[in-house]
This record gives sequence, C-alpha cells and structure tokens, in this order.
Amino acid sequence: MNFNFPVDALNQLQTPFYFYDIDLLHATLDAVKKEAGEYGFKVHYAVKANANDRILNSIKEAGFGADCVSGYEVQKALEVGFNAEGVVFAGVGKADWEINLGLDNDIACFNVESIPELEIINELAEKKRKVAKVALRINPNVNANTHHYITTGLEENKFGINQWDLENVIEVLKNLNHVELEGIHFHIGSQITDLMSFKDLCIRVNELQEWFISHQILPKVVNVGGGLGINYEQPDTESIPDFKSFFKIFDEFLELKPGQELHFELGRSIVAQCGALLTKVLYVKNGVNTKFAIVDAGMSDLIRPALYQAYHKIENLSSDKAIEKYDVVGPICESSDCFGKAVDLPETNRGDLITIRSAGAYGEIMANRYNLRALPSAYYSDEI
Ligand code: LLP
Repeated sequence: MNFNFPVDALNQLQTPFYFYDIDLLHATLDAVKKEAGEYGFKVHYAVKANANDRILNSIKEAGFGADCVSGYEVQKALEVGFNAEGVVFAGVGKADWEINLGLDNDIACFNVESIPELEIINELAEKKRKVAKVALRINPNVNANTHHYITTGLEENKFGINQWDLENVIEVLKNLNHVELEGIHFHIGSQITDLMSFKDLCIRVNELQEWFISHQILPKVVNVGGGLGINYEQPDTESIPDFKSFFKIFDEFLELKPGQELHFELGRSIVAQCGALLTKVLYVKNGVNTKFAIVDAGMSDLIRPALYQAYHKIENLSSDKAIEKYDVVGPICESSDCFGKAVDLPETNRGDLITIRSAGAYGEIMANRYNLRALPSAYYSDEI
C-alpha cells in the first residue's frame, strides 16, 4: 500500500508540518504483528523514533510494548496507556529519578549497561523493598555496516557491557539481592539494510548463550534490539519494510533454549514510511552552478540530512513540468540546512508544495527551536 497525499487538503494547511498516513501506519503494524506472531516473537516499539500521541496510541492499540530511553519516555508510554509489564527502559545514563520512576511503576525490565548502574538500581530498589528485573545489555562487537553515528554494537562504542567484563558482572550480581537477571539485550545499530549483519548478531548471541549456560544461568528473555532499515530511495516500492525476511533470519539462526522468549525493539521500520514533512517553496534563486529551491522547512524541522548526511526523497506535489535540478534548502542560517543537492524536480516555483518523504522516524521527535523557529505541527490522514 502506498502513501496517499490528499494534495488539495494539504495545500490549505500552514506549512511546514508533518503529515502521517494512518492507513499506512496500520498496515505496517499489521505486517509486523503477523510476521513476528508467526514465531511468537514479542515487539517493543522504540518510542525514541516518534513519540507523537496519535502514533503512540495506534501502536499501543496494536498490542506492542514500549522501549524507552528516558524517564520522560517511560512517563509518556504509561500516560498513553502502555501496560507497565510491556515497558522496558534502556540507556547508558539513567538518573536516579528515572530509575525510581521505573521502580515505582513496576516496569518490565531495566536494560543495564554497566556495573555501577547495576549497583545503583539495586540500592534504589532496596530502599523501596523491591526487586528490579534487569537485562544485561551486552556489546556484541558486531558491525552493523551503517552510518558511524548510528552504529552502537562495536567495542569502541559507549553502549553496553563488553564481553570481557561479563565474568565480573556475574560476580557482582551474586551479591545484589534487589535485582533479578531477567534477560540479555543487544542492539547493533540502526538503518541496517544488510540482513547478514543480523545473522552475525545471531551467531554471537548463540556463543554468549553458551557462556551463560556454562555459568548456570539461563536468561528468560533474549532481546535483540531494533535496527531494521527502510528504503529511503524508493519509499513507494517498499512502503512496508520486509519484516518477513527480518524475523526469518532470527528464527533460522538464533538458537533459543526451551522457555526463552525473543524480543525486538523496532523503531524506524514501524514509523518511518508513514510520515512525510510538507513544506512550500518560498523562493527559487539562481546560484553559480545550480538553482536553489528555498523552502519554509529547515533543519530544525528535520535534522537527519544535516546531521547524518541522510538521504530523503523529495517530491514536488504541485508541478508536472519538465525535470530540472535544484538544491533544496531551508531558511536557517547554516550551510548544512540543505535537504538535498542536485535533486531532480519538475520545474519548481514559489508556492509549490514539496514533500520530504520517509520522515516518520527521527523526524518530528528530533525537531528543535533553533533560530527560535516554531516546532512543526502534525496532521493525520484520517483527520483532514
Ligand atoms: N534499541 C536501542 C537500544 C536503540 O538504541 C535503538 C535506536 C533502537 C532500539 C531502535 O532502533 P531502530 O529500529 O529505530 O533502528 N536518530 C538516528 C537513529 C538513532 C537510533 C538510536 N537507537 C537517525 O535518525 O537515523
């Protein structure tokens, strides 16, 4: 199913704004549910990708859990109505108030990234006479072959417990009575399009499982994180990511032990394609070797191109004239405020409605007020 742009209605709205195709979101959620359900895998939605109320609500209604990385995300997930038993809390730097919030609400699990953190969770849980369930986030040292800013599973990254430290962790755990080891957790990176990286992860997880078993430990949950990439180049040929092949890799290569559950934390693959940023052309200006289409959205609305040199497909919804090349830039006082260079667009003029595709993940949520600009608003296909 394709993203549907009701152009006439969108033209009436004040740009820039995010527009979400709710039908596409639901079709995507159905696909994830079906393909994960095939193997009994459990999916937590990574709230960091998009914490818009409407989106969160649909995801909650579809029965997913929530993967949170701050106390604010935990709070939000609970407010929206996710069950505490479906909330997991990760992050290298959890503050005491955030841990206490998780403890007070009896969330499912803390994904723990270091020994000092384990000790603090134990201490805070003891004060509340509780036992916190924890999963150890282990750095698997597997290369995700993605942009280095969003690679997380290598030894040099700040994330997770390195394998050589596991022996110590197990020793420390023996003396902590207010934490209970529930699982092991991994996440190798984001926007991973080479599924073989996930096969590598499976093989590493199998090795680590053997290590735990040799220490008489059988974690109940194996959580392999998120990271499934999407097709930014051709959002319409693959508007729903290939969840089937993704889950199949884990079914084939990850050797679960009897009684173990396999969990996932998918963000981008669930919400990226159902969102687009809509903007209008303010001016077309001739540069030295190029033409600039200056639009009213900027890097404050969608920072991915500026921050990661990320590609987003750009389309002109108002013109079907001959194709020309444009640098599509925003109004912000930074040269990096550019959504795409030498973009093929039909002849573009002031007032044309432009869409920047695949912006449902890490788009609206990363918007900021640089240059004191207003935050972008959001509209939904079933409300306009
Ligand atoms: N689990 C953990 C522990 C994570 O760190 C992340 C993402 C996810 C799950 C969800 O990954 P996903 O399924 O969305 O790939 N702002 C960047 C992406 C940062 C990803 C951070 N961690 C971007 O715009 O590309």
